Amino acid sequence: MRSTHSDSSVRVWDPFVRVFHWSLVSCVVLNYFVVEDGETAHQVIGYIAAGLVLARVVWGFVGSRYARFDDFFPTPARLRAQLVALRSGQHPFHPGHSPLGALMMFALMALVLALGVTGFLQTTDAFWGDEQMQEIHELLASALIALAGVHGLVAIVLGRVERVNLVGAMFTGVKHRPDDQPEPR
Ligand code: HEM
Ligand code: HEM
Repeated sequence: MRSTHSDSSVRVWDPFVRVFHWSLVSCVVLNYFVVEDGETAHQVIGYIAAGLVLARVVWGFVGSRYARFDDFFPTPARLRAQLVALRSGQHPFHPGHSPLGALMMFALMALVLALGVTGFLQTTDAFWGDEQMQEIHELLASALIALAGVHGLVAIVLGRVERVNLVGAMFTGVKHRPDDQPEPR
């Protein structure tokens, strides 16, 4: 996805972030499309997914520069700046997550944790066979798949529009910044 324009490279995603991302994707896809019966394998994979998210939360405080929450936390000021830029048709280069992108990251991670909690509750005496809890769990799973679909699609489309290798960088760790796109901060 490298453009023909000259560009400079930024090492953004450390190995932890990359392994976290693709492991999480594998767990979610497996649990939603392959082992969705609620049995042992499903529970183990679901807890691994929740564990990955918890580890990522810790990494958000101690990890490398672009992995840290303070680099991309979507504060109102950062969100406003991005919306203003988008409205005027600009796509400033964000080496790490953009503020709107960060909102999606938090939503995806929160849904995985909520699936861990509702999944666990279904295995307890109090909620064993509880239909409402099953429905909530299923609804959360559908919301996660829908949002993740949008997220993956946006990453592909935006990568083309902005001429930045967003998806490739999740594999290699390196983002290529076109020379005509200055850093916003
Ligand atoms: C179940 C499916 C998915 C889930 C739960 C998911 C979740 C996430 C999360 C939590 C992050 C934040 C990474 C971090 O900061 O540690 C992220 C980033 C990212 N994901 Fe996914 N993802 C999914 C599928 C995909 C797919 C299919 C693609 C590619 C087509 C993709 C491309 C990306 C990219 C490019 C980023 C970094 C965006 C940026 O540069 O700011 N994801 N994803
Ligand atoms: C990535 C996380 C997870 C995803 C995407 C997910 C997704 C799903 C889906 C799609 C179903 C089928 C719903 C249906 O059609 O009836 C299901 C059922 C179930 N899940 Fe999960 N799940 C996750 C995590 C967990 C965890 C951590 C546990 C428990 C420790 C768990 C326990 C169950 C149980 C017991 C059922 C069966 C409910 C029933 O009898 O209908 N899940 N899950």
